[in-house]
Amino acid sequence: MRFVSFKKLVVSCLMVAGFILTYQACNKGIESTRDRIASVVTGRAEVKQPLAFDHQAHIKAEELECTDCHRFAAKGVHASLPKMKDCADCHSQPQGKNPDEPKVREYEEEGREIQWVTVNKLPGHVYFSHRAHVGFAEMKCWDCHQDMRKVSKPVTKSDIGYLTMSKCMECHKEKNVKQDCATCHK
Ligand code: HEC
Ligand code: HEC
Ligand code: HEC
Ligand code: HEC
Ligand code: HEC
Repeated sequence: MRFVSFKKLVVSCLMVAGFILTYQACNKGIESTRDRIASVVTGRAEVKQPLAFDHQAHIKAEELECTDCHRFAAKGVHASLPKMKDCADCHSQPQGKNPDEPKVREYEEEGREIQWVTVNKLPGHVYFSHRAHVGFAEMKCWDCHQDMRKVSKPVTKSDIGYLTMSKCMECHKEKNVKQDCATCHK
């Protein structure tokens, strides 16, 4: 009996997922497929990152700032993911013993970028700006994200899924920031 009801559950989940995908596909025809998939993925499925990058090891040992790699996190709308030139200075020489480390050099020698997958992405109709929060409101990354200084596995699923509209609003009310629809919806 348990098995049957589990199967039913799986089937209905698949139907819901199918519906959401179709709905999104129709609704956002102009968005790129990548954006569409990312926005469906937010807070739900896990993605796979191309390399076993370790935040904790890099930040601790090398005393790197978040913005050394996420270059627009204080000045731009999107924080951005690092480019090869952000890694090359150190990794043109072998570093440590992790089997994924030499791969960084392979990318570099072949002149290729590492294709990191963006996991945190709000639906396309929502406007969010890192600059407003990090630059102007002087918030720390870990006020919203998990504390990456202590994370040693690649980020494979969203950590801002809890930032629903009511959570954004809660803080905007508290801090007396704009709350009209057009502030966050374009
Ligand atoms: C007020 C909450 C908040 C703070 C503070 C914040 N973020 Fe974010 N971050 C978000 C949200 C929301 C998204 C998804 C944005 C979107 O889809 O437009 C995001 C997305 C990202 C992404 C992936 C997409 C992108 O923008 O390139 C990175 C990387 C990131 N944040 C890094 C950082 C770093 C580094 C800091 C600190 C310097 C930081 N964030 C501070 C809320 C926050
Ligand atoms: C300031 C120097 C420096 C920069 C910049 C740097 N790394 Fe590293 N990286 C290191 C060192 C040192 C190690 C060895 C850490 C250890 O084994 O304890 C390492 C280790 C690694 C490893 C092995 C697993 C791990 O994380 O320990 C990978 C993969 C890696 N780095 C990828 C990258 C990528 C990708 C970038 C660019 C986004 C980058 N690194 C930028 C210094 C750096
Ligand atoms: C040496 C480069 C480097 C530094 C320094 C660094 N990051 Fe990252 N970050 C990366 C890379 C590479 C990824 C994508 C792979 C992964 O998830 O590990 C990433 C992914 C992320 C993501 C997930 C982005 C997404 O796809 O939504 C967040 C959030 C983030 N970093 C926050 C931070 C914060 C906060 C700091 C500072 C405490 C920081 N990072 C410092 C290289 C770096
Ligand atoms: C913990 C508090 C907090 C949270 C959570 C938060 N915000 Fe904000 N937000 C602020 C503050 C403070 C400002 C004002 C920054 C300044 O000084 O301009 C701001 C400004 C903004 C602005 C710029 C408004 C303008 O002046 O044009 C936008 C857009 C925005 N937030 C969207 C969002 C969205 C979307 C979310 C949820 C994903 C969110 N915020 C979550 C505190 C927060
Ligand atoms: C501070 C930012 C912010 C403001 C202001 C804001 N929203 Fe939102 N809204 C969001 C975010 C983030 C989402 C996506 C996450 C979610 O669905 O909770 C969202 C989602 C939505 C959705 C889609 C919900 C769904 O289930 O897909 C609607 C509709 C919406 N907002 C309407 C409004 C209206 C109407 C107003 C003005 C009264 C408003 N929003 C003001 C941040 C905001």
